[in-house]
Amino acid sequence: MTLTTEPRITRAPFYRSVGDETEVFRAAARRGSPVLLKGPTGCGKTRFVEAMAHELGRELITAAGHEDMTAADLVGRFLLQGGETVWVDGPLTRAVRSGAIFYLDEVVEARQDTTVVIHPLADHRRELPIDRLGTSVPAAPGFQLVISYNPGYQSVLKSLKESTRQRFVAIELDFPPAEIETDVVAYEAGIDAETAGTLVRLGQAIRRIDGSPLREAASTRLLILAGGLVAEGLPLRAAVQSAVVRTLSDDADVVRALGELVDAVLPRS
Ligand SMILES: Nc1ncnc2c1ncn2[C@@H]1O[C@H](COP(=O)(O)OP(=O)(O)OP(=O)(O)O)[C@@H](O)[C@H]1O
Ligand SMILES: [Mg+2]
Repeated sequence: MTLTTEPRITRAPFYRSVGDETEVFRAAARRGSPVLLKGPTGCGKTRFVEAMAHELGRELITAAGHEDMTAADLVGRFLLQGGETVWVDGPLTRAVRSGAIFYLDEVVEARQDTTVVIHPLADHRRELPIDRLGTSVPAAPGFQLVISYNPGYQSVLKSLKESTRQRFVAIELDFPPAEIETDVVAYEAGIDAETAGTLVRLGQAIRRIDGSPLREAASTRLLILAGGLVAEGLPLRAAVQSAVVRTLSDDADVVRALGELVDAVLPRS
């Protein structure tokens, strides 16, 4: 009997380009230039990085920024293991050593003394100083830094430090135009193009509300969520109530106003 090991073939993540983001990312990757992704929640930032990492044949290592994040969370720390103190690389150090793409999500949530550790990686030095080890690790070929943030809901105080920002190639993503968003919603939710088109029209109507009281517009993700309920057999209207209207707001007046918008957009059944 012969044993064969099948090569692990993972399918390319589904991503539909909207503008020139793919070309810009490829060019930045060839240069090893760091990339800053901007865009509202649920517009496809993570999916875009996953698709690019797959296309470029690189491992993707992700960390999410939060206010308690310290440099050690990214770089690594000494841990006690079986009575011995051993150094354990953090996700950033692993990516630097292995030539992976390191994706730091929600970068502005992290304190500035944390984001500063990425500076020497984001310019010509391409190295990660590890003070605790007294060394500096040069970035392996293929290493690329990608950070993201949502300019909409983060306060001005939490904007990115200029010296950080000016090291990055910036790519701005937004909700795709109707035709593409319809394809995305249909594919991801597993519903027909007509139903997806209706959800997208509703999403666009919500995004157009003047002086919107909503913290965030109806995202592509939310439309996919509603589409998923339809794929599971729920009527479109009920799916929209649960996955769009009630998700977007707790305020009774706003929920009522959104309900009227739904009545205007959804076909009578
Ligand atoms: N252009 C696109 N091609 C394919 N899928 C898309 C596209 N735009 C959005 N999506 C879909 O929208 C959903 C949300 O995308 P994703 O999780 O990447 O958003 P995000 O921008 O990272 O959001 P967050 O800021 O909340 O992390 C995913 O299911 C993704 O497939
Ligand atoms: Mg994301």
